[in-house]
Amino acid sequence: MNRDVQRRDFLRWLAASPLLASAGGLAAFEEVIAQEDPRRTLDDLITSAGQALDVFDLRKVAAEKIPTAHWGYILTGVDGEETQRNNRAALERIYLRARRLIDVSSLDTTVNLFGREWPTPLIIAPAGSQRAFHPDAEIATARAAAARNHLQTLSTVTSTAVEEVNEARGEPVWYQLYARTHWEATVALVHRTRDAGCPVIVLTVDLLGGSNRLTMERYRRIDDRDCRSCHTSGGRADPVKPMYRGLPQGARDSAGRSMTWDYIQRLRDITDQKIIVKGLVTWEDAELAVRHGIDAIWVSNHGGRAEGSGRATIDALPEIAEAVSGRMPIIVDGGFRRGTDLFKGLARGATAVAIGRPYLWGLGAFGQEGVERVLEILTRELQITMRAVGARSLAEIGPHSIGVD
Ligand SMILES: Cc1cc2nc3c(=O)[nH]c(=O)nc-3n(C[C@H](O)[C@H](O)[C@H](O)COP(=O)(O)O)c2cc1C
Repeated sequence: MNRDVQRRDFLRWLAASPLLASAGGLAAFEEVIAQEDPRRTLDDLITSAGQALDVFDLRKVAAEKIPTAHWGYILTGVDGEETQRNNRAALERIYLRARRLIDVSSLDTTVNLFGREWPTPLIIAPAGSQRAFHPDAEIATARAAAARNHLQTLSTVTSTAVEEVNEARGEPVWYQLYARTHWEATVALVHRTRDAGCPVIVLTVDLLGGSNRLTMERYRRIDDRDCRSCHTSGGRADPVKPMYRGLPQGARDSAGRSMTWDYIQRLRDITDQKIIVKGLVTWEDAELAVRHGIDAIWVSNHGGRAEGSGRATIDALPEIAEAVSGRMPIIVDGGFRRGTDLFKGLARGATAVAIGRPYLWGLGAFGQEGVERVLEILTRELQITMRAVGARSLAEIGPHSIGVD
């Protein structure tokens, strides 16, 4: 029996086991295998990116190909996955209000962010350690983003250095920053990305209190490979990430619980890059963001991987859009899986919508081609949605375009 078949049998056994299925995060895994229709099994796997009809087809292949512990890293949220589930559930509660008899023979999906025009409002969110999903890692993502002309945001904990990613992308990406405990290390990181031409720093602020990632731990436990064979470098628990190399001592430690809004001014003083704060979910913080001269807000709960608030990002959007009142762009992520979802995000006030897991599924399934396919599917679905409801441009999408039961 080859390794793939063995693994598939194991996964099927795992999903069927009542003992394991009752263990919190494994329910999500069972869903991966069964999908909505119990007749669909892992045997339905597509064999090329082009066969994928929706992003979930790529998820099934990724579930099969990505090593168990790494798959747990993608799957995981926090606690019992309530926030992650609600990101989706809240999107599904929203319906579209379709208008008829409008000439939709030509569509305008372009969006302008800081003077750069993008053909669609679909953005690639930062995700760390992409070599865990495919050997081509962030390079494959960058080539896909270049091929389809999408904005890519690179994680601080990228497995590929920013200079290489920029080259593969053909233009500088946005850089997501996890601030370091040591200010000199943060300065060095920021200056490196500035020198590489990255126009924007995306400061992620939703993990400062830590996160309780149980699903990740459960998958790590059932992975029988020896993690140390990869996750060790010079006696340290993890290999040094490329962006940390050469940084002052202690560069790997995250700036902890003491960070406040003053940090924005400190960043402003060391760089002229635009600054976006990622992880805001309340109007109070949106107002503070305006007051502190932030360039854009990224509404996010880290895909349900940060706090266990249970609150969907799509439900946080309206109060933030109202507080911002058009003074800066708003990006949203969390559970966006279909063109209709992108449409709902735009209707609730987002300027652009970012995806995390879907493109990682594409990457894990088929590398660059898989990421390209995800971008292609979601763009096409957004266009279909816009035509179906009579919205000819992003400007015509608004609160009037949707409703909630
Ligand atoms: C495997 C994985 C790694 C991530 N790594 C980062 C990261 O390094 N920095 C960051 O700001 N967000 C990170 N995120 C969060 C994403 O940027 C994004 O907020 C989230 O994935 C969006 O939700 P979605 O996955 O439901 O689309 C990560 C998400 C995943 C799934």
